Amino acid sequence: MSDSVPVPPSDRRTFVSKVSAAVIGGLITVAAPIAGLFPILDPLRRRSDTRGMVRVTSFAALPEGGEPRKFPVLDTLVDAWNKTENVPVGSVYVQRTGDNTVRVLHSVCPHLGCSVGYNASGRGYFCPCHKSSFALDGSIADPKSPSPRGMDPLEAVVRDGEVWVKFQNFRKGSPERIAV
Ligand code: FES
Repeated sequence: MSDSVPVPPSDRRTFVSKVSAAVIGGLITVAAPIAGLFPILDPLRRRSDTRGMVRVTSFAALPEGGEPRKFPVLDTLVDAWNKTENVPVGSVYVQRTGDNTVRVLHSVCPHLGCSVGYNASGRGYFCPCHKSSFALDGSIADPKSPSPRGMDPLEAVVRDGEVWVKFQNFRKGSPERIAV
């Protein structure tokens, strides 16, 4: 004969109800703070879109007519002992190409590395060192240009009204675009 005392069905139902309420309450307690973290983490998620990129200008600073503007590229350099912010590492031409799009070209001539200038009257670029000329999209304008390739385009995004660029240098004097 068993010593156990049978539990009335109504007590069992009460027990199950209490356990269910505790589980649901626990889930709500855990889920609410996690949901609350999303707005806080949002800038981190957005920053991941621009990882490896540097901000060069606001989109509003670019002329609406599509005239390119030259901007310095400032980056943060880190070595074993130091972290130095706003170090000039180069410069780029940024051109507004649409409502929220830009074209970014490296300002260094792919021939031998002189600084390319913008020629407003000719609506293109010109390198004074050996007279290479480039169209607004960076392609070679004059076939007699000694530059072996057009100006180097750089990856860019417009995020929250700011222009971010993945700055990169390329080998000079090469017909192929080789990152260095
Ligand atoms: S460095 Fe630009 S044409 Fe030679």
